[in-house]
Amino acid sequence: MKILIVGGGGREHAIAWKVAQSPKAEKIYCAPGNAGIGEYAECVDIGVMEFERLAAFAKEKEIDLAVIGMDDPLVGGIVDVFEAEGIRVFGPRKNAAVLEGSKAFSKDLMKKYGIPTAAYENFDDPGKALAYLETASLPIVLKADGLALGKGVLICNTLEEAREGVKSIMMDKKFGSAGNQMVIEEFMTGREVSVLSFVDGKTIKTMTSAQDHKRALDGDQGLNTGGMGTFSPSPFYTDEVDAFCKEHIYQKTVDAMAAEGREFKGIIFFGLMLTEQGPKVLEYNARFGDPEAQVVLPRMKNDIVEVFEACVDGALDQIELKFEDNAAVCVVLASEGYPVSYEKGYEIRGLENFKGREGYYVFHAASREKDGKLVTNGGRVLGVTATGKDLKTARANAYKAAEWVDFDNKYCRSDIGKAIDEAEQSL
Ligand code: AMP
Ligand code: GLY
Repeated sequence: MKILIVGGGGREHAIAWKVAQSPKAEKIYCAPGNAGIGEYAECVDIGVMEFERLAAFAKEKEIDLAVIGMDDPLVGGIVDVFEAEGIRVFGPRKNAAVLEGSKAFSKDLMKKYGIPTAAYENFDDPGKALAYLETASLPIVLKADGLALGKGVLICNTLEEAREGVKSIMMDKKFGSAGNQMVIEEFMTGREVSVLSFVDGKTIKTMTSAQDHKRALDGDQGLNTGGMGTFSPSPFYTDEVDAFCKEHIYQKTVDAMAAEGREFKGIIFFGLMLTEQGPKVLEYNARFGDPEAQVVLPRMKNDIVEVFEACVDGALDQIELKFEDNAAVCVVLASEGYPVSYEKGYEIRGLENFKGREGYYVFHAASREKDGKLVTNGGRVLGVTATGKDLKTARANAYKAAEWVDFDNKYCRSDIGKAIDEAEQSL
C-alpha cells in the first residue's frame, strides 16, 4: 500500500515509524514531515492546511490510505475534502472533529448524554460571562471554545484573575477566534490520565493509558507547553477505573456522536480526571496526543495499518488490540526558552547512538537538514523514548538515552514519570 501521513512533528514520526513496521506498507509519504520522518517516508513540501494540494498529490501518487495526525486539518475538514476526491482516509470528518474543535460542543454533548464531566456554562457574550463569575465559586476554570495550541485553558484562583481571563479570551482575543465562545467550568481535583482509542463509527477499542507533563519546568512549574514528556501506562488507571470508563464514558461518547449524525471514525483521546466522585472527562481530542503517541505506539503489538483500515471500513470489532506488558517514558528535549522564545538552527549531534538499540527511540519534533547536517528547527526538538519492564526502568533508560544526543541550548525536565513512579511504590 501507498500511505500518506499528514503532519510533521514527533507524533507523526512515531506514526510513520509504526506504519513502516507494517508488511502492508510499500511506500510512505509524509507532508510536510521532518528530517527524522525522512528515514521512513518521502517528505513532501505541502502544508497541512493545503487540502486541495494534498488531495491532488494523493491522487497523483495513487495513495491507498491517508492518515491525518494533527488537529488543525481535522477540525478544518481535510477528511471531507479527501473523501470527496475518493481518497481513503483515516480520521474524523469535520462534523465529528468538532468533538475537539469546540469545547462548548463537547460539553453540551456530555451533558445531553449523561457523560461525567465538570459542571459548566457556555458563553458567547463577555458581559454575561462576567456576570456569571460574580456567583461562581473559586477556583474556576475558563476555556476558549476553539483550538488554541493547548493553551486556551485558564485556572483562576481569584475573581480578579477570572475577570481578566474573560477579558483576554473574549475581548482581547488572546487566542484569536477560538475565544468567540467560551466555557466556564467547575474546578476539579484529582489525578489526570489520558486514554487513546480507535473508533470506527460504532465500535471503540481503547489503547493503553498514558500521562503527559504539560508544564515547562520541573515540579509542574512554569508555563503550559505542548507537552514535555509522557509515560505509559499510568499506575492510577486501574481495572476499576477502566470498568467505570467503559460503562459511563467511552462507548457512550461514540454512541452520542452517532446519534447526533456525527459518526466518529479515527482516534478519540480522552483526557480524564480521576476525582473523588469517579472519573470525569476533562477534554476530548480527535487525534493521537503528542507526545502520548511516542509512548503508546512503541508498546503496541498490532499492525497499525490493519487497525487504521478496520476503522475506515467499520470492522474494528474484528480487531483485538494488544500491548506489551512493559512501560515507556518519553523525555522531550526542547530548546531553552520554549515555549516563549528560543533559537533555532543548532546542529543536533549523537543521533547515531540510537541505531540498532532495541527499546530506544528518538522521535523528531522539529529538525531539518542544513548543509548536510541536522539542525534544530523549533521549540520541542526531539522526543527520546525508552521502554523498560516497569516505569522506573523505562524512566532510567529514557534519561540515559537523553544524554546520547546533544545540541546547543538543549533543555529537558528532569522529573518525567518521577512522582508517579514514587507513588506507584505506595499504591
Ligand atoms: P484541557 O485542554 O481541557 O485538557 O485543559 C488543560 C489542562 O487544564 C488539563 O490537563 C488540566 O490540568 C487543567 N484543567 C482543565 N479543566 C479543568 C478542570 N475543570 N478542573 C481542573 N483542572 C482542569
Ligand atoms: N499532549 C497533549 C496533546 O497532544 O493534546
